[in-house]
Amino acid sequence: MTAKIPTLDLTRNYGRIKEEILEALNTVLESQHFILGPDVAAFEKECESYLGGVSAIGCASGTDALLLALMALDIGEGDEVITTPYSFFATASCITRLGAVPVFVDVDPGTFNIDPVKALEAVTPRTKAFLPVHIFGQMTPLETVHEAFAARGISVVEDAAQAFGAWRKEGNQIRRAGAWGHIGCYSFFPTKNLGGYGDGGMNVTPEGSIADRIRKLRVHGAGTTYYHDEVGLNSRLDSLQAAILRVKLRHIEEWNEERRTVAGRYFALFAEKGLLGTVVPPQELEGNYHIYHQYVVKVPRRDELQAFLEGEGIVSRVYYPVSLHLQKCFSFLGYSEGDFPVSEQLSRETLALPVFPELTMEEQVRIVSAIGRFYGK
Ligand SMILES: Cc1ncc(COP(=O)(O)O)c(C=O)c1O
Repeated sequence: MTAKIPTLDLTRNYGRIKEEILEALNTVLESQHFILGPDVAAFEKECESYLGGVSAIGCASGTDALLLALMALDIGEGDEVITTPYSFFATASCITRLGAVPVFVDVDPGTFNIDPVKALEAVTPRTKAFLPVHIFGQMTPLETVHEAFAARGISVVEDAAQAFGAWRKEGNQIRRAGAWGHIGCYSFFPTKNLGGYGDGGMNVTPEGSIADRIRKLRVHGAGTTYYHDEVGLNSRLDSLQAAILRVKLRHIEEWNEERRTVAGRYFALFAEKGLLGTVVPPQELEGNYHIYHQYVVKVPRRDELQAFLEGEGIVSRVYYPVSLHLQKCFSFLGYSEGDFPVSEQLSRETLALPVFPELTMEEQVRIVSAIGRFYGK
Protein backbone atom coordinates (compact mmCIF):
# COMPACT_ATOMS: atom_id res chain seq x y z
CA MET A 1 0.00 0.00 0.00
CA THR A 2 1.28 3.49 -0.81
CA ALA A 3 2.01 5.74 2.15
CA LYS A 4 -0.42 8.49 3.08
CA ILE A 5 0.64 12.03 2.25
CA PRO A 6 -0.30 14.33 5.15
CA THR A 7 -0.89 18.07 4.78
CA LEU A 8 1.99 18.56 7.20
CA ASP A 9 4.46 16.05 8.65
CA LEU A 10 6.21 17.53 11.66
CA THR A 11 8.07 14.31 12.42
CA ARG A 12 10.26 14.83 9.35
CA ASN A 13 11.15 18.29 10.56
CA TYR A 14 11.96 17.00 14.03
CA GLY A 15 14.28 14.43 12.48
CA ARG A 16 16.38 17.25 11.00
CA ILE A 17 16.91 19.11 14.27
CA LYS A 18 16.52 16.48 16.97
CA GLU A 19 20.01 16.83 18.42
CA GLU A 20 19.81 20.62 18.60
CA ILE A 21 16.36 20.47 20.22
CA LEU A 22 17.34 17.91 22.83
CA GLU A 23 20.38 19.94 23.78
CA ALA A 24 18.30 23.13 24.07
CA LEU A 25 15.64 21.40 26.15
CA ASN A 26 18.25 19.91 28.41
CA THR A 27 19.68 23.35 29.14
CA VAL A 28 16.24 24.54 30.30
CA LEU A 29 15.66 21.38 32.33
CA GLU A 30 19.01 21.76 34.07
CA SER A 31 18.15 25.39 34.88
CA GLN A 32 14.59 24.54 36.07
CA HIS A 33 13.55 27.97 34.86
CA PHE A 34 10.26 27.43 33.07
CA ILE A 35 8.29 30.66 32.85
CA LEU A 36 9.73 33.59 30.91
CA GLY A 37 13.43 33.43 31.93
CA PRO A 38 16.68 33.61 29.95
CA ASP A 39 15.56 31.63 26.90
CA VAL A 40 12.47 33.81 26.44
CA ALA A 41 14.56 36.99 26.72
CA ALA A 42 17.13 35.57 24.28
CA PHE A 43 14.43 34.50 21.81
CA GLU A 44 12.88 37.96 21.98
CA LYS A 45 16.27 39.56 21.28
CA GLU A 46 16.91 37.20 18.35
CA CYS A 47 13.48 38.00 16.87
CA GLU A 48 14.23 41.70 17.26
CA SER A 49 17.42 41.42 15.24
CA TYR A 50 15.78 39.17 12.64
CA LEU A 51 12.79 41.47 12.14
CA GLY A 52 14.60 44.78 12.60
CA GLY A 53 13.46 47.98 14.30
CA VAL A 54 11.03 46.43 16.77
CA SER A 55 10.78 45.26 20.37
CA ALA A 56 9.51 41.70 20.78
CA ILE A 57 7.38 40.40 23.65
CA GLY A 58 6.61 36.68 23.90
CA CYS A 59 3.22 35.49 25.14
CA ALA A 60 1.16 32.33 25.46
CA SER A 61 -0.48 32.12 22.01
CA GLY A 62 -1.23 33.95 18.80
CA THR A 63 -4.74 34.56 20.07
CA ASP A 64 -3.35 36.25 23.17
CA ALA A 65 -0.95 38.26 21.03
CA LEU A 66 -3.93 39.72 19.16
CA LEU A 67 -5.80 40.37 22.38
CA LEU A 68 -2.78 41.98 24.05
CA ALA A 69 -2.23 44.18 21.00
CA LEU A 70 -5.77 45.55 21.09
CA MET A 71 -5.67 45.95 24.87
CA ALA A 72 -2.43 47.92 24.58
CA LEU A 73 -4.21 50.28 22.18
CA ASP A 74 -7.07 50.75 24.67
CA ILE A 75 -9.59 49.30 22.24
CA GLY A 76 -12.90 48.60 23.94
CA GLU A 77 -16.67 48.99 24.00
CA GLY A 78 -18.06 50.34 20.73
CA ASP A 79 -14.73 50.89 19.00
CA GLU A 80 -14.50 49.61 15.44
CA VAL A 81 -11.70 47.46 14.07
CA ILE A 82 -11.56 46.88 10.32
CA THR A 83 -10.57 43.36 9.39
CA THR A 84 -11.00 40.45 6.97
CA PRO A 85 -13.83 37.91 7.00
CA TYR A 86 -11.50 35.27 5.52
CA SER A 87 -9.26 34.21 8.39
CA PHE A 88 -8.98 32.04 11.45
CA PHE A 89 -11.56 32.74 14.14
CA ALA A 90 -9.14 34.45 16.56
CA THR A 91 -8.70 37.42 14.21
CA ALA A 92 -12.26 38.53 14.96
CA SER A 93 -12.84 37.05 18.42
CA CYS A 94 -10.06 39.17 19.93
CA ILE A 95 -12.08 42.22 18.85
CA THR A 96 -15.46 41.11 20.21
CA ARG A 97 -13.92 39.89 23.47
CA LEU A 98 -13.07 43.52 24.23
CA GLY A 99 -16.57 44.74 23.39
CA ALA A 100 -15.33 46.27 20.15
CA VAL A 101 -16.93 45.72 16.75
CA PRO A 102 -15.26 43.92 13.84
CA VAL A 103 -16.04 45.74 10.60
CA PHE A 104 -15.40 43.29 7.81
CA VAL A 105 -14.15 44.24 4.35
CA ASP A 106 -14.03 41.72 1.52
CA VAL A 107 -10.82 40.17 0.28
CA ASP A 108 -8.91 40.26 -2.99
CA PRO A 109 -9.85 37.21 -5.12
CA GLY A 110 -6.22 36.68 -6.20
CA THR A 111 -4.31 36.89 -2.92
CA PHE A 112 -7.19 36.21 -0.47
CA ASN A 113 -5.96 39.16 1.62
CA ILE A 114 -8.14 42.08 2.67
CA ASP A 115 -8.31 44.79 0.04
CA PRO A 116 -6.47 47.67 1.80
CA VAL A 117 -8.05 50.40 -0.31
CA LYS A 118 -11.57 49.15 0.46
CA ALA A 119 -10.49 48.94 4.10
CA LEU A 120 -9.66 52.63 4.05
CA GLU A 121 -13.12 53.38 2.64
CA ALA A 122 -14.69 51.61 5.62
CA VAL A 123 -13.21 54.05 8.14
CA THR A 124 -15.71 55.84 10.40
CA PRO A 125 -15.15 58.19 13.34
CA ARG A 126 -15.26 55.10 15.59
CA THR A 127 -12.48 53.20 13.78
CA LYS A 128 -9.60 52.58 16.17
CA ALA A 129 -7.57 49.97 14.31
CA PHE A 130 -7.01 48.22 11.01
CA LEU A 131 -6.23 44.52 11.42
CA PRO A 132 -5.00 42.93 8.19
CA VAL A 133 -4.08 39.23 8.16
CA HIS A 134 -1.18 38.04 6.00
CA ILE A 135 -3.17 35.03 5.00
CA PHE A 136 -1.44 31.75 4.09
CA GLY A 137 1.97 33.42 4.32
CA GLN A 138 1.70 36.33 1.90
CA MET A 139 1.77 39.96 3.03
CA THR A 140 -1.11 42.32 2.49
CA PRO A 141 0.34 45.36 0.68
CA LEU A 142 0.20 48.10 3.27
CA GLU A 143 2.31 50.81 1.64
CA THR A 144 -0.67 52.42 -0.11
CA VAL A 145 -2.70 52.86 3.07
CA HIS A 146 -0.31 52.87 5.99
CA GLU A 147 0.12 56.63 6.10
CA ALA A 148 -3.55 57.32 5.44
CA PHE A 149 -4.52 55.22 8.46
CA ALA A 150 -1.83 56.85 10.60
CA ALA A 151 -3.04 60.33 9.57
CA ARG A 152 -6.50 59.42 10.90
CA GLY A 153 -5.04 58.18 14.19
CA ILE A 154 -5.87 54.56 13.32
CA SER A 155 -3.39 51.91 14.42
CA VAL A 156 -2.36 49.09 12.12
CA VAL A 157 -2.21 45.72 13.91
CA GLU A 158 -0.84 42.96 11.70
CA ASP A 159 -2.00 39.39 12.19
CA ALA A 160 1.19 37.70 11.01
CA ALA A 161 0.33 34.34 12.60
CA GLN A 162 0.90 32.59 9.28
CA ALA A 163 3.69 34.72 7.92
CA PHE A 164 6.86 34.59 10.02
CA GLY A 165 9.69 35.55 7.67
CA ALA A 166 7.47 36.70 4.80
CA TRP A 167 8.34 40.13 3.43
CA ARG A 168 7.38 42.77 0.95
CA LYS A 169 9.51 45.30 -0.90
CA GLU A 170 8.66 48.94 -0.41
CA GLY A 171 10.98 50.90 -2.70
CA ASN A 172 14.45 49.61 -1.82
CA GLN A 173 13.39 48.56 1.64
CA ILE A 174 12.28 45.14 2.76
CA ARG A 175 9.38 45.13 5.22
CA ARG A 176 8.89 41.95 7.19
CA ALA A 177 5.41 40.70 8.00
CA GLY A 178 4.48 41.87 11.48
CA ALA A 179 7.18 44.54 11.66
CA TRP A 180 5.41 47.10 9.48
CA GLY A 181 2.43 48.25 11.54
CA HIS A 182 2.13 49.62 15.07
CA ILE A 183 1.92 46.08 16.45
CA GLY A 184 2.55 42.71 14.84
CA CYS A 185 1.18 39.45 16.19
CA TYR A 186 2.63 35.96 15.63
CA SER A 187 1.54 32.47 16.59
CA PHE A 188 3.93 29.66 17.39
CA PHE A 189 1.24 26.97 17.35
CA PRO A 190 3.04 23.72 16.36
CA THR A 191 1.71 23.73 12.78
CA LYS A 192 2.94 27.25 12.10
CA ASN A 193 6.00 27.69 9.86
CA LEU A 194 7.83 28.80 13.00
CA GLY A 195 6.07 26.51 15.46
CA GLY A 196 6.87 25.43 18.99
CA TYR A 197 5.98 22.10 20.60
CA GLY A 198 2.94 23.62 22.30
CA ASP A 199 1.23 26.99 22.33
CA GLY A 200 3.13 30.25 22.04
CA GLY A 201 2.85 33.72 20.55
CA MET A 202 4.55 37.08 20.26
CA ASN A 203 3.94 40.78 19.75
CA VAL A 204 6.38 43.11 18.08
CA THR A 205 6.21 46.88 17.94
CA PRO A 206 8.50 49.76 17.01
CA GLU A 207 7.00 51.85 19.81
CA GLY A 208 8.71 51.58 23.18
CA SER A 209 5.68 52.69 25.20
CA ILE A 210 3.47 50.03 23.59
CA ALA A 211 6.14 47.39 24.22
CA ASP A 212 6.28 48.35 27.90
CA ARG A 213 2.49 48.20 28.16
CA ILE A 214 2.31 44.74 26.57
CA ARG A 215 5.11 43.50 28.82
CA LYS A 216 2.97 44.55 31.77
CA LEU A 217 -0.30 43.28 30.35
CA ARG A 218 1.09 39.77 29.86
CA VAL A 219 1.77 39.47 33.62
CA HIS A 220 -1.59 40.53 35.05
CA GLY A 221 -0.90 44.21 34.44
CA ALA A 222 1.90 44.26 37.01
CA GLY A 223 4.92 46.53 36.46
CA THR A 224 6.42 45.18 39.67
CA THR A 225 5.37 41.76 40.97
CA TYR A 226 2.25 42.03 43.17
CA TYR A 227 1.69 45.69 42.24
CA HIS A 228 -1.02 45.83 39.56
CA ASP A 229 -1.50 49.01 37.57
CA GLU A 230 -4.31 47.48 35.54
CA VAL A 231 -5.99 44.14 34.90
CA GLY A 232 -4.01 42.20 32.34
CA LEU A 233 -3.75 38.57 31.28
CA ASN A 234 -1.69 35.65 32.41
CA SER A 235 0.01 35.13 29.07
CA ARG A 236 3.64 34.17 29.22
CA LEU A 237 5.79 32.31 26.75
CA ASP A 238 7.35 29.39 28.57
CA SER A 239 11.07 28.73 28.49
CA LEU A 240 10.85 25.26 26.93
CA GLN A 241 8.92 26.71 23.97
CA ALA A 242 11.37 29.59 23.69
CA ALA A 243 14.34 27.19 23.68
CA ILE A 244 12.71 25.18 20.86
CA LEU A 245 11.83 28.32 18.93
CA ARG A 246 15.40 29.60 19.22
CA VAL A 247 16.63 26.46 17.48
CA LYS A 248 13.95 26.73 14.80
CA LEU A 249 14.56 30.44 14.23
CA ARG A 250 18.12 29.53 13.13
CA HIS A 251 16.60 27.48 10.27
CA ILE A 252 13.57 29.55 9.34
CA GLU A 253 15.10 31.19 6.27
CA GLU A 254 16.13 27.82 4.84
CA TRP A 255 12.72 26.27 5.55
CA ASN A 256 10.78 29.18 4.08
CA GLU A 257 12.93 28.91 0.97
CA GLU A 258 12.14 25.17 0.79
CA ARG A 259 8.42 25.97 1.04
CA ARG A 260 8.84 28.26 -1.96
CA THR A 261 10.59 25.46 -3.84
CA VAL A 262 7.62 23.18 -3.11
CA ALA A 263 5.23 25.89 -4.37
CA GLY A 264 7.30 26.33 -7.53
CA ARG A 265 7.21 22.57 -8.18
CA TYR A 266 3.40 22.51 -7.83
CA PHE A 267 3.13 25.27 -10.40
CA ALA A 268 5.42 23.45 -12.85
CA LEU A 269 3.59 20.16 -12.36
CA PHE A 270 0.15 21.78 -12.88
CA ALA A 271 1.47 23.36 -16.07
CA GLU A 272 2.94 20.07 -17.28
CA LYS A 273 -0.36 18.28 -16.75
CA GLY A 274 -2.39 21.01 -18.46
CA LEU A 275 -4.18 21.71 -15.19
CA LEU A 276 -3.58 25.46 -15.04
CA GLY A 277 -6.91 27.13 -15.59
CA THR A 278 -8.81 24.28 -13.96
CA VAL A 279 -6.67 24.57 -10.86
CA VAL A 280 -5.91 28.18 -9.94
CA PRO A 281 -2.61 28.26 -8.02
CA PRO A 282 -1.84 30.90 -5.38
CA GLN A 283 -1.01 34.29 -6.80
CA GLU A 284 2.17 35.92 -5.52
CA LEU A 285 2.03 39.70 -5.74
CA GLU A 286 4.93 41.57 -7.34
CA GLY A 287 7.41 42.51 -4.61
CA ASN A 288 6.16 39.86 -2.19
CA TYR A 289 8.15 37.03 -0.63
CA HIS A 290 5.33 34.55 0.03
CA ILE A 291 6.36 31.82 2.45
CA TYR A 292 3.53 29.43 1.55
CA HIS A 293 2.43 28.69 5.06
CA GLN A 294 -0.43 27.05 3.22
CA TYR A 295 -0.58 26.22 -0.45
CA VAL A 296 -4.18 27.06 -1.31
CA VAL A 297 -5.66 26.49 -4.76
CA LYS A 298 -9.04 27.40 -6.20
CA VAL A 299 -10.75 24.44 -7.82
CA PRO A 300 -14.12 23.46 -9.26
CA ARG A 301 -16.03 20.70 -7.39
CA ARG A 302 -13.82 21.27 -4.37
CA ASP A 303 -15.55 18.89 -1.94
CA GLU A 304 -15.61 16.06 -4.49
CA LEU A 305 -11.91 16.60 -5.21
CA GLN A 306 -11.09 16.53 -1.53
CA ALA A 307 -12.95 13.23 -1.06
CA PHE A 308 -11.23 11.78 -4.14
CA LEU A 309 -7.80 12.76 -2.84
CA GLU A 310 -8.61 11.27 0.55
CA GLY A 311 -9.35 7.98 -1.25
CA GLU A 312 -5.91 8.24 -2.89
CA GLY A 313 -4.23 8.65 0.49
CA ILE A 314 -3.69 12.41 0.10
CA VAL A 315 -4.84 14.67 2.91
CA SER A 316 -6.00 18.18 2.07
CA ARG A 317 -7.74 20.84 4.15
CA VAL A 318 -10.37 23.52 3.78
CA TYR A 319 -9.38 26.94 5.13
CA TYR A 320 -11.97 28.34 5.90
CA PRO A 321 -15.32 26.65 5.34
CA VAL A 322 -17.31 29.49 6.95
CA SER A 323 -16.41 33.16 6.58
CA LEU A 324 -16.16 34.99 9.88
CA HIS A 325 -19.19 37.22 9.25
CA LEU A 326 -21.35 34.09 8.94
CA GLN A 327 -20.16 32.39 12.14
CA LYS A 328 -23.06 31.67 14.49
CA CYS A 329 -21.45 33.48 17.41
CA PHE A 330 -21.18 36.67 15.35
CA SER A 331 -24.82 36.72 14.22
CA PHE A 332 -25.37 39.67 16.58
CA LEU A 333 -23.23 41.76 14.23
CA GLY A 334 -26.06 41.60 11.70
CA TYR A 335 -24.18 40.37 8.63
CA SER A 336 -25.78 37.98 6.19
CA GLU A 337 -24.92 35.71 3.28
CA GLY A 338 -23.90 37.72 0.22
CA ASP A 339 -22.29 40.56 2.20
CA PHE A 340 -18.75 39.47 1.25
CA PRO A 341 -19.09 37.50 -1.97
CA VAL A 342 -15.38 36.93 -2.58
CA SER A 343 -14.74 35.53 0.87
CA GLU A 344 -17.86 33.36 0.65
CA GLN A 345 -16.83 32.05 -2.76
CA LEU A 346 -13.35 31.19 -1.46
CA SER A 347 -14.88 29.25 1.41
CA ARG A 348 -16.61 27.08 -1.22
CA GLU A 349 -13.77 26.79 -3.75
CA THR A 350 -10.39 26.71 -2.04
CA LEU A 351 -8.40 23.67 -1.01
CA ALA A 352 -5.10 23.57 0.87
CA LEU A 353 -2.73 20.96 -0.55
CA PRO A 354 0.14 19.44 1.44
CA VAL A 355 3.00 21.89 1.89
CA PHE A 356 5.99 21.65 4.21
CA PRO A 357 9.73 21.99 3.65
CA GLU A 358 10.31 18.23 3.58
CA LEU A 359 7.55 17.36 1.08
CA THR A 360 9.25 15.44 -1.74
CA MET A 361 9.01 15.81 -5.50
CA GLU A 362 7.72 12.21 -5.70
CA GLU A 363 4.89 13.05 -3.32
CA GLN A 364 4.01 16.16 -5.30
CA VAL A 365 3.95 14.15 -8.53
CA ARG A 366 1.51 11.75 -6.84
CA ILE A 367 -0.69 14.62 -5.66
CA VAL A 368 -0.80 16.38 -9.03
CA SER A 369 -1.35 13.09 -10.91
CA ALA A 370 -4.31 12.34 -8.65
CA ILE A 371 -5.75 15.82 -9.28
CA GLY A 372 -5.21 15.26 -13.01
CA ARG A 373 -7.07 11.93 -12.88
CA PHE A 374 -9.97 13.62 -11.06
CA TYR A 375 -10.32 16.24 -13.81
CA GLY A 376 -9.69 13.73 -16.62
CA LYS A 377 -6.23 15.12 -17.54
C1 LIG B 1 -4.46 34.02 11.07
C2 LIG B 1 -4.38 33.51 12.48
N1 LIG B 1 -4.59 34.36 13.50
C3 LIG B 1 -4.50 33.97 14.77
C4 LIG B 1 -4.20 32.65 15.11
C5 LIG B 1 -4.21 32.26 16.54
O1 LIG B 1 -3.01 31.69 16.96
P1 LIG B 1 -2.98 30.64 18.16
O2 LIG B 1 -3.55 29.35 17.65
O3 LIG B 1 -1.53 30.53 18.49
O4 LIG B 1 -3.76 31.18 19.27
C6 LIG B 1 -3.96 31.74 14.08
C7 LIG B 1 -3.55 30.37 14.35
O5 LIG B 1 -4.21 29.43 14.51
C8 LIG B 1 -4.08 32.17 12.73
O6 LIG B 1 -3.87 31.33 11.72
